[in-house]
Amino acid sequence: MLNRAKFLFATLSLVLWLDAGTSLAQQPPQQSSKHEQAQQKSQDPWWKHAVIYEIYPRSFQDSNGDGVGDINGITSRLDYIRDLGIDAIWISPMYPSPLIDFGYDISDYTAIDPLYGTLADFDHLVSEAKKRNIRVIMDFVPNHTSDQHPWFKESRSSRSNPKRDWYIWRDGNAMGQPPNNWQSWFGHSAWKLDPTTNQYYYHHFYTEQPDLNWRNPQVRKAMYDAMRFWLKRGVAGFRIDAVSRLFEDPNLHDDPILPGKNAYGDPNIAHKYTDNLPEVHEVLREMRKVVNAYPGNPVMISEADEPNIAELAKMYGAKNDEVQLPMDFQIADVNKLSAPDFRRLLNEIDRNAVGGQPHYFFSNHDQPRQWDRYGDGVHNDQIAKLMAALLLATRATPLMYYGEELGMRTTEPARKEDVQDPIGKIGWPEEKGRDGERTPMQWDASTNAGFSASQHPWLPVPPSASIYNVVAEAQDPKSILAFYKRLLALRRNEPALRDGRYLPLNQEDTNVLSFLRKEPGRGEAILVVLNMSAEPRTIKFDLSAHGVKGGSANPLLAAPEIGAESTQLNHFSVPAFGVFIGSVD
Ligand code: NOJ
Repeated sequence: MLNRAKFLFATLSLVLWLDAGTSLAQQPPQQSSKHEQAQQKSQDPWWKHAVIYEIYPRSFQDSNGDGVGDINGITSRLDYIRDLGIDAIWISPMYPSPLIDFGYDISDYTAIDPLYGTLADFDHLVSEAKKRNIRVIMDFVPNHTSDQHPWFKESRSSRSNPKRDWYIWRDGNAMGQPPNNWQSWFGHSAWKLDPTTNQYYYHHFYTEQPDLNWRNPQVRKAMYDAMRFWLKRGVAGFRIDAVSRLFEDPNLHDDPILPGKNAYGDPNIAHKYTDNLPEVHEVLREMRKVVNAYPGNPVMISEADEPNIAELAKMYGAKNDEVQLPMDFQIADVNKLSAPDFRRLLNEIDRNAVGGQPHYFFSNHDQPRQWDRYGDGVHNDQIAKLMAALLLATRATPLMYYGEELGMRTTEPARKEDVQDPIGKIGWPEEKGRDGERTPMQWDASTNAGFSASQHPWLPVPPSASIYNVVAEAQDPKSILAFYKRLLALRRNEPALRDGRYLPLNQEDTNVLSFLRKEPGRGEAILVVLNMSAEPRTIKFDLSAHGVKGGSANPLLAAPEIGAESTQLNHFSVPAFGVFIGSVD
């Protein structure tokens, strides 16, 4: 979590599949007979082939003019989401909250904050989404509550309160200082002295987010009941926040100090005793049993920035009995266009011992947006298409972030007084917070980009919205949005892209990442070529080892655009940052 990195050859002649003069970008995804056959044959759970789309509810669509997005706003945009080609939406927290961490500080796990609407609005959203074959995934925040949650209010009221042990309370050390050197992820000590009982409570994140004590069986039961509450309302699963932080060393060992200081001016530290403790896995297995008791294969997605792929793979569980989709922060945070780095990480997770499904993403509400994070400042729009292909053509359940399909960029606040996210105030100017990646969705070129009728949306609409918006891009067949739509439709309709194995090619190539997607048995194969360098490259492919006899590839989608003619595999030219996706046989 929160690794805050700072920093034609062709659209396929759409003519390949389109009626003359009609852009696929304007079409809803088509159900091909190939797709239908694959659907019928597949015994796979839905989440294995779904494209998931994260919505930050404050910023997607404001329906009542208060400057903050809401549930009815999301419902009003479901047709857009369906037409884009999305199968499930994950909505960041909408529970009652004092909004210190904009919803990740929950004061009631079984209700909706009036800012976003009502439970009836939520039920309506789920049923309208279902009509469009879109599933709804809740965000679930088990590590901590708000300090305004009634559980914490009780817990802090006296040392003998029955809920005292629901949180982590300790005496200070002999010097009258915090119990040890543990640090909050959001800066400074992770302990806060509470004068009522003269003990410290532990908070991995903001001081207003006290950590729950997951060693207490009553806490577990209460949290599993909260999951059941939403499962009964028809949610398709949970994205589980900060899972690796659930347990801390009961003996309170100090964390090891590392060289240097962080953005908050504290010594760097290894969170050895507060992160990734083995007990986490027991809880994940219990949660999996909770979701498994409900129909429709509910999914668990874990948020955990594991230090390497081996640790990430543990999230699947030794018997594939924990999380179905652990978010892969290793791939998200490569933070440079490096074919060797991506290849190594893709290979490692693809070969995980339990056969777990990879789950990739590049942007979210904590990460600077990929348009600027991977862009070189000159070719950002082309690189946005390259990143789209990396996300959607590999073998993984892809997770998109609202607006990435438009090329939305990170727009940080210019002045400290404009910052909304508290870490931007604590860490200014080095850490400007996460407002930059949470700006309103860019629907059109009207006031506030069509997001809100308010004079004061909660975050300003970036200037780029006048050009990078849904309406403008839907009319431009070369836009980033048009490319995403074609790619999403291709992924849905081509069984090799949807189900096929991932077979890396030309593994010594330092500039071009190439791979085959190939259906087991049937042999239908798709070649994906991504030039991650600023120079045109000419390469050779020998695919005979993979059972491909032909010497050429027929383009299905490319950026920059190319014509429909096939390309020779022994002399294959790819322009700078070019994307080629084509069939081979
Ligand atoms: C991860 C969430 O994605 C982030 O937004 C939040 O601040 C922390 N967890 C704490 O809940």
